[in-house]
Amino acid sequence: MSRDPIRPEIRELELSGIMKIATRALGDPDVIPLWFGESDVVTPDFVRQAAVRALGEGRTFYSFPRGVPELRGAIRRYLARIYGVDVHPDRIHVPGSTMLTVTIAGQCLLEPGAEIVLIGPYWPNIRNVARVCGARVVEVRLEEGPERWWLDVDRVAAAIGPRTRALYVNSPSNPTGWVASGDELAALVELCRRHGIGLISDEVYHRHVLDDPGGVAPSVLPLVGDDEPVFVLNGFSKAWAMTGWRLGWMVAPKSLVEPMAVLCECNNTGATTFAQWGGIAALEEGEGFVRDFVARCAANRDLVMEILGTHPRVHLLRPAGAFYAFPRIEGVGDSLAFCRQVLERAKVGIAAGYTFGEGNESHVRLCFAIAPERLRTALERLRAELERR
Ligand SMILES: Cc1ncc(COP(=O)(O)O)c(C=O)c1O
Repeated sequence: MSRDPIRPEIRELELSGIMKIATRALGDPDVIPLWFGESDVVTPDFVRQAAVRALGEGRTFYSFPRGVPELRGAIRRYLARIYGVDVHPDRIHVPGSTMLTVTIAGQCLLEPGAEIVLIGPYWPNIRNVARVCGARVVEVRLEEGPERWWLDVDRVAAAIGPRTRALYVNSPSNPTGWVASGDELAALVELCRRHGIGLISDEVYHRHVLDDPGGVAPSVLPLVGDDEPVFVLNGFSKAWAMTGWRLGWMVAPKSLVEPMAVLCECNNTGATTFAQWGGIAALEEGEGFVRDFVARCAANRDLVMEILGTHPRVHLLRPAGAFYAFPRIEGVGDSLAFCRQVLERAKVGIAAGYTFGEGNESHVRLCFAIAPERLRTALERLRAELERR
């Protein structure tokens, strides 16, 4: 038999425990979907109008693969405003979605046989990026409780070995809602320096600090020099309700400007041109929207704590950031089977915990960014399902 030309890593790719549930009932009007990481809020009108204007002006052509200078300039001003840092425009890239920035950071740091340390529970797409690069994933799970999720930096240090090339951290975190402190991020930066490994800091939920709507979570950006092997990823999907726009940015080491131009070109040849004008409007006029949106998520978080968090079989640490709850449910040992059952019987779509890394078979993830009335109905259905079991 001739050799299979398809790489084994590709043959072995599987849908995540989010998609395995969602593909069963996508678009079913009876199901309340809490499986994906998005709200039911349409992108604010001033952002949509900016893109419409760009279309009207005929901005439908190929443009700069690293992003139009107007948007990269707006990102530079935004970063200066929220973090007080001046980032050189050579370091700012807009290849397409935030997801694509994760892929490109993986392409820069990972090779077959390399290892990447993921701080978990983590968003499953980073694991798939690593696998596609041929790298092996090493997981360090956050400590769970008693009051909150927290990071044991010594355990991260112990996970770094001779093959480790990178560390991935996502704060505020999907799925736990953990928000790293500035000191925790500084410790991770130091660790990467000491071991000469790259750092991927996924900060796409940077505005979702639930106890401080309008605030900003700590970032690694002010902690690192211009040319350290650090990739700071961010995007428009979460803070400005722009998931369908596929628009994100990354801050990368300065000396990589030319390779980055090539990677942006060969991965996507740049983000959708007219969408980038929407991005400028979001950054320049979006503060009121962000504040209100995060305030709504915070109120929804409280609703989740009240309805689900008080159930005797539910162990739920209060999420400090992002817009997910990640409870452990006593009596659940197969999270995928449980989510299938909840979908069938309660008509609520939630994501299976196993997909967020090791140690999460009794967990489920639910996104609480939807309208409060619908969320309440979903939570009551979930609670009733737990009573029934
Ligand atoms: C942690 C994390 N990083 C990156 C992304 C990708 O964001 P985007 O939809 O902007 O590509 C997501 C999306 O859910 C996410 O949860």
